[in-house]
Amino acid sequence: MLVLGLETSCDETGVALYDSERGLLADALFSQIDLHRIYGGVVPELASRDHVKRMLPLLRQVLDESGCRAGDIDGIAYTAGPGLVGALLVGASCAQALALAWGIPALGVHHMEGHLLAPMLEERPPQFPFVALLVSGGHTQLVQVDGIGRYQLLGESLDDAAGEAFDKTAKLLGLGYPGGPEIARLAQDGRPGRFVFPRPMTDRPGLAFSFSGLKTFALNTWQHCQAGGDDGEQSRRDIALAFQQAVVETLIIKCRRALKQTGLKRLVIAGGVSANQALRSALEQMLGELDGQVFYARPRFCTDNGAMIAYAGCQRLLAGQQDGPAIQVHARWPMESLPAL
Ligand code: KG4
Ligand code: ZN
Repeated sequence: MLVLGLETSCDETGVALYDSERGLLADALFSQIDLHRIYGGVVPELASRDHVKRMLPLLRQVLDESGCRAGDIDGIAYTAGPGLVGALLVGASCAQALALAWGIPALGVHHMEGHLLAPMLEERPPQFPFVALLVSGGHTQLVQVDGIGRYQLLGESLDDAAGEAFDKTAKLLGLGYPGGPEIARLAQDGRPGRFVFPRPMTDRPGLAFSFSGLKTFALNTWQHCQAGGDDGEQSRRDIALAFQQAVVETLIIKCRRALKQTGLKRLVIAGGVSANQALRSALEQMLGELDGQVFYARPRFCTDNGAMIAYAGCQRLLAGQQDGPAIQVHARWPMESLPAL
C-alpha cells in the first residue's frame, strides 16, 4: 500500500510517500523557522498561510523524487491533531480534497503517535512492548506501548513540556528560536559545576514531570549574573549546560522508574527533544547498565516530518481504518483514546 503523509500541525510542512512493501520512498520538508524567528515563537496565522503555499510544491517534489504518479497512491494520512487548529485544517482539507478527487481513503493521524512510531522507519526498529518517552515542544509523556493504539499513559508534565522549557530558557538568555538546538550548542562549551539546577519532582514517587520551575531558576541565575556584570557569552554557556543537565537527569530518573515499574527493558525516545545528543548519550548509558536497549529516529525524524505521519497512517489504513469526508481536526486529543490495531 502506497500512502501519502501530510504534516501541518505547527511550523513545519512535511510531505512523504511510504510504501508498506518498499519502505520510505520520498520525504520533503519545509521549515517555517525563518518566518517565525523575529517573533521569538510560532505565530499561528502565519503558520497556516505558509502551509497553504508549501503543500502542493512539496507534493510535486515527493512525486518527482519517488518516480511515483498520483494514480499510484492508495491512501492519504494527515495530522488531525493535536496542534494549531488553523495549521491542522490546511493538511486536513488538502488530504480530504485529494482523497475525493483520486477516489482513495483519507485518515487523520495523531501527531504524537506519529512521533512515537518514527523509530520504526530506522534500520533497527523496536519491538513491542516498550516504554516511550515522548518529548516535544507541546508534550512530555511516559507511555507504555503494547502495540499500535495500545497506549497506557504512565506520567506526563503538569506544566511546561521539556521542549517548551528549552525554548523559554533560550528566549530569556536572548538566544534564537527554536531554543533546544541553541541551548544544546551553547552547552557544549559550558563549564560543569558552576551552576546546579534542581531536578524537579524527582524527590517524590511517581512519573509526573514539572519543568516550568527550571525556566524561573534560569531567569534568576541569569539576572544574578547580569547584576554582577557577568553577563557575557560564558555565563550563557554555563547556564545552558546546567539547564540541559537538569532536564536530562530528570528525564533519566523518570525513565529508569518507568522501566522498573513496567518491567520492560526497551525504551523509545521520540519528539523534537529526542534529537538532543546529551539526552541520547545519557539514555544509552543507563540502558547499557540495565542490559536494555534504547531506540530513536534519525535527527530529521525526531522533529516534525511527513514520514512519521505516512508510516503511522499506513499501518492504520492497512487495518481498514478511514475517515468520513468531513474535515475535522482536534487541538487536544488524548492518545489513549485511539483505537487499538
Ligand atoms: O516534535 P517537535 O518538532 O514539535 C512538536 O511536536 O512540538 O519538537 C519541537 C521541540 C522544540 O521545543 C525544540 O526546541 C525541541 O523540540 N528540540 C530540541 C532539540 N531539537 C529540537 N530540544 C533539545 N535539544 C535539541 N537538539
Ligand atoms: Zn511534533
